Amino acid sequence: MLEKNGYEFVEQTKYPNIHEPDQNLDKPQPPYEIPLEPGKPLINLPDPAEIQLGGMDLRQAIEQRRSLRRYAETPLSLEELSYLLWLTQGIKKEDEKRHVVWRTVPSAGCRHPFETYLSINRVEGLAPGLYRYAAMENKLVALQMDSTFNAKLTKACLGQRQVLTSAVTFIWAAVPYRTVWRYSERSYRYLYLDAGHVCQNLHLAAESIHCGICAIGAYHDDTVDSLMGFTPPEMFVIYMATLGKRE
Ligand SMILES: Cc1cc2nc3c(=O)[nH]c(=O)nc-3n(C[C@H](O)[C@H](O)[C@H](O)COP(=O)(O)O)c2cc1C
Repeated sequence: MLEKNGYEFVEQTKYPNIHEPDQNLDKPQPPYEIPLEPGKPLINLPDPAEIQLGGMDLRQAIEQRRSLRRYAETPLSLEELSYLLWLTQGIKKEDEKRHVVWRTVPSAGCRHPFETYLSINRVEGLAPGLYRYAAMENKLVALQMDSTFNAKLTKACLGQRQVLTSAVTFIWAAVPYRTVWRYSERSYRYLYLDAGHVCQNLHLAAESIHCGICAIGAYHDDTVDSLMGFTPPEMFVIYMATLGKRE
């Protein structure tokens, strides 16, 4: 039986059913990144232009990609992590006058409504814990060095073992107003479409450096949001992916 409540989302986001967006009412545009968390240490990431990784043929990366749920014990280097962050959410260009940034992924209306968080278990030179990618600054923000965090996250992901054993788990948070400002209710479609692009870039980028990922859509939203300190509806978890080196 088709679920009526699920289709209600499609119904409510059809053009005749949506409100005039704030952009058309001359409301100010929201920032394209959340502010740096005060007092939290910042870690410099290598300049993306200097990173010499990857280079795999695109067809080969697409054809050999599979979801990977078992990972080698080998840690990721900071350069590899930077490469993956750059290819999933890196900022290529900023137009300050138009208040817009172009990233390495597409996004409806170039709104880019995501923040990338990382639950790090095995990255050279980084203590295990929770971090955020500050894309404008090309830095990591060290948020919480709590060794029990990853176990809690695993439980919130229905106990999926690949969360526990990953080198890194990517947690993408949606900041919906960035898109809602332009598209009102229809934005909620775009958030999920945009997230798919980001995760596919991670799949292919990982493939090209002998890593693999598993997308994670099965999680308890409220538990993850509360663990992460997100306050829905302003910000909420939209997608995740575990990542590690191939065995
Ligand atoms: C939106 C989405 C959510 C997913 N969520 C999970 C998940 O929570 N756990 C999991 O083990 N795999 C998850 N997967 C991976 C799929 O199971 C996998 O892509 C599918 O079985 C096809 O296998 P392949 O990726 O190796 O081609 C998810 C994939 C997508 C695209």
